[in-house]
Amino acid sequence: MSLLLKNGRVIDPANSVDAVQDLLIADGKIEKLGKNLAAPAGAEVVDARGKLVCPGFIDIHVHLREPGYEYKETVATGTRAAAAGGFTAVACMANTNPVNDNGAVTDYILARARVEGAVRVYPIGAVTKNLKGEELAELAELAEAGCVAFSDDGKCVMNAGLYRRALEYTLPFGVPVISHAEDATLCRGWAMNEGVVSTEIGLPGAPAAAEEVMVARDILLAELTGAHVHIAHLSTAGAVRLVRDGKARGVRVSAEVTPHHLVLTEEAVRTYDPNTKMAPPLRSKRDVEALIEGLADGTIDCVATDHAPHALSEKEGEFDRAAFGIVGLETAVPLLLDRLVRPGLLPLPTLVARLSHDPARLLNLPGGSLAPGAPADVTILDPERELTVDPAQFRSKSRNTPFGGFALTGGPWLTIVGGTVVRL
Ligand code: DOR
Ligand code: ZN
Repeated sequence: MSLLLKNGRVIDPANSVDAVQDLLIADGKIEKLGKNLAAPAGAEVVDARGKLVCPGFIDIHVHLREPGYEYKETVATGTRAAAAGGFTAVACMANTNPVNDNGAVTDYILARARVEGAVRVYPIGAVTKNLKGEELAELAELAEAGCVAFSDDGKCVMNAGLYRRALEYTLPFGVPVISHAEDATLCRGWAMNEGVVSTEIGLPGAPAAAEEVMVARDILLAELTGAHVHIAHLSTAGAVRLVRDGKARGVRVSAEVTPHHLVLTEEAVRTYDPNTKMAPPLRSKRDVEALIEGLADGTIDCVATDHAPHALSEKEGEFDRAAFGIVGLETAVPLLLDRLVRPGLLPLPTLVARLSHDPARLLNLPGGSLAPGAPADVTILDPERELTVDPAQFRSKSRNTPFGGFALTGGPWLTIVGGTVVRL
């Protein structure tokens, strides 16, 4: 089976390619790239003129919710949402029920993914048993079963001594530990960012320092142990500065940012829409500017959605009581194209790198490159596509987004996994 993509603008930052070319895919792999390639007998030919042909996008922070919370999302629906959003692979977080803290749960997720995954699925194992922060999970077993990283995401491992041991223990596995940086003692019962807006609208706040204290701690622990610490959903200017300083000192620290922290500020919370509530919270304009700058200069390594589906009943009613998190897979690419690339805040090839090659590099995943021989995971974008976000149309089982009704230009057009076009 072969597939020939004709005359698209091929953007492959890992190989310094940005040119109108044809791309030939055969037997699930990239065969070659060039001008006027002839279609082999029986090849499917796709006219990609005016489209952007990129290495498959990889989202390293997704909550697929299976096992245990299938009413919010499943491997089947979450991976369909991923494909619809232009992602060819996702890494899924461990806060399922049961928690992915032992090899049997990892096996289960991978089995579901084999049977009904529309894109590649890479499980992330828990750092501590049942995410309780008290004793280490079955780390060796999880790595053996195929976990590509460890994280208690959703919760912060508050015990620094235990976290140090986790970093030391996982070092030989060559996979990162992903930090949910939120000092629980600095932000009890919070619902939004602490600042003028939280005071004005009367909601309890979490200070930027609650994140920054933990980012600082984790950079120091990475330095102490030599392990790779990856900071999930970076959201404050101070955290960007800490990561920049850590990298400058040679510490093995990396970081991600979500689309919502790049395009919204705490001002959005004035609506009291529970779909503006997430952990970490939407921050100030100054923070957003620092995040964009950090993403552009490489301080922040990648964009990840923190796709966090919740049922309607968990996201309606009082803001204080609503669950934390929003879905992101189906809005990420249009938001980033419309709000960052179009106004010139981020060069398109940089965005492509931050969604493909950079996340692949962080978690040692295959993909992120269109070099001959690479797996044929390809994301094709239509830069002129006009869309209005309609949550009712999501492939995700959940609808919790603050972006309903947003009119955006640019979006995914075709998602190819292992040489096959994902049909939704
Ligand atoms: O808003 C969030 N929701 N942040 C997290 O860290 C966890 C996530 C969830 O699992 O719902
Ligand atoms: Zn998360």
